[in-house]
Amino acid sequence: MPSQEDTLKSLREALAFSPENIPLRKHIAAILIDLRKYEEAEKELSEALRIAPNDSELKLGLAEAFSAQGKQSAALVILEELITLNPPLAKAFILHARLSFRNQEFEQALESYQEATKLDHSLRDVAFENQLSQYISVEEEDEYGGRVPVEYPDDDDEPIAEVERPSISFKDVGGMDSVKEEIGMKIIMPLKHPELYEAYGKSIGGGMLLYGPPGCGKTHIARATAGEVNAGFISVGINDILDMWIGNSEKNLHHIFQIARSEAPCVLFFDEVDALGASRTDMKQSGGRHLINQFLAELDGVKHSNDGVLILAATNTPWNMDSAFRRPGRFDRILFVPPPDEEARRSILEIMLKGKPTTDIDFAKLAKKTKELSGADLKAVVDLAIEAKLKESMKTGQLMPIGMKDLTRAINQVPSSTKEWFATARNYALYSNEAGLYDEILSYLNIKK
Ligand SMILES: Nc1ncnc2c1ncn2[C@@H]1O[C@H](COP(=O)(O)OP(=O)(O)O)[C@@H](O)[C@H]1O
Ligand SMILES: [Mg+2]
Repeated sequence: MPSQEDTLKSLREALAFSPENIPLRKHIAAILIDLRKYEEAEKELSEALRIAPNDSELKLGLAEAFSAQGKQSAALVILEELITLNPPLAKAFILHARLSFRNQEFEQALESYQEATKLDHSLRDVAFENQLSQYISVEEEDEYGGRVPVEYPDDDDEPIAEVERPSISFKDVGGMDSVKEEIGMKIIMPLKHPELYEAYGKSIGGGMLLYGPPGCGKTHIARATAGEVNAGFISVGINDILDMWIGNSEKNLHHIFQIARSEAPCVLFFDEVDALGASRTDMKQSGGRHLINQFLAELDGVKHSNDGVLILAATNTPWNMDSAFRRPGRFDRILFVPPPDEEARRSILEIMLKGKPTTDIDFAKLAKKTKELSGADLKAVVDLAIEAKLKESMKTGQLMPIGMKDLTRAINQVPSSTKEWFATARNYALYSNEAGLYDEILSYLNIKK
């Protein structure tokens, strides 16, 4: 493949024969900009503009070349003209937004940015939005505390939360007995017998936070909880919310809680909740702080209205969570979900192989052989064995049942996926175990305090 330099050389040779060829000049300029040869690009574009003085693409290129060389006012002069064009040029707006931002004209930057992304979705730039949100002053203009008044794009009417009706229940969850019991007492019983709790003056509400290594059934049991009580299930990945338009995150969050209330009884499940409660400083700055407060307010609202919304959350990294989440009435129940023990592995494998063609399976033996594997790892084992068998069956044209050999072979191919997590968790449990939060990890690891 010729290098860009080579291409450039031959394009220039071609240009010598047809100096009026504007598309060719554009091409050359684009390559120059790619190569960060902005000065040469500027020369090329200026020359082209002498020939075609009304070509807005050339102007845009020139503005880019100026801006990259720090000639900002020259770039702005061009862009101010370009953003008045009809039809509008999305890229002119985005460049205008960036330059305005650099000039500390934040409102202008926001306006141009909105225009650009409205014209062309693909120009969205989350990093830029974050920068913007730190400089735009808070406007008290609506019930959500008002934020950057960015409009949600009209053509994006994907629902922000879908209500599922899970078909699985606790019987589809292997092991996890103590988690089932806690969820039963703290979440299911109050829903079924609110009068009992009232009689004993026990308050209802507050969410439960599940934490532990990946793949050990946190999401699975949350879904099964909904199935267990025939409730709706809404799973919200916090990253989904964060990723939405600036300033609408709070609105979306409120909306999700409203949907849950209207669908009660309903399990509202926040997956990877650490992203929201992150004690990382970037989340604590303006935008993030707002979202956290909104979330906490909604949680408190659920408690008071006692309305059949069951709150569960899960995280692999509890140490990233803001401690405000752990106050009473919020996630005051924090449960460790460890990898399955031998008995749990046995029952998980039984669940996973149920209804599949098998022969002579010694589940006790398999459970012994799968030490340190998580639920997800066990699923990988079963999937591998099934795949291999399927292939064989295709070849022979006969249905071949899965046997011990297939599973043993698969077990040897699947490494434990929880080791890395424990290496990290161990440090937190040993060195920043506030209020004994991670005692369960220590006892799981057989570490005495
Ligand atoms: N206790 C379990 N019983 C049955 N299946 C399980 C169990 N734990 C994990 N699995 C299987 O592993 C998959 C991944 O588990 P998941 O709940 O997503 O893990 P986590 O949310 O803890 O990261 C599940 O979809 C399920 O198929
Ligand atoms: Mg999960």
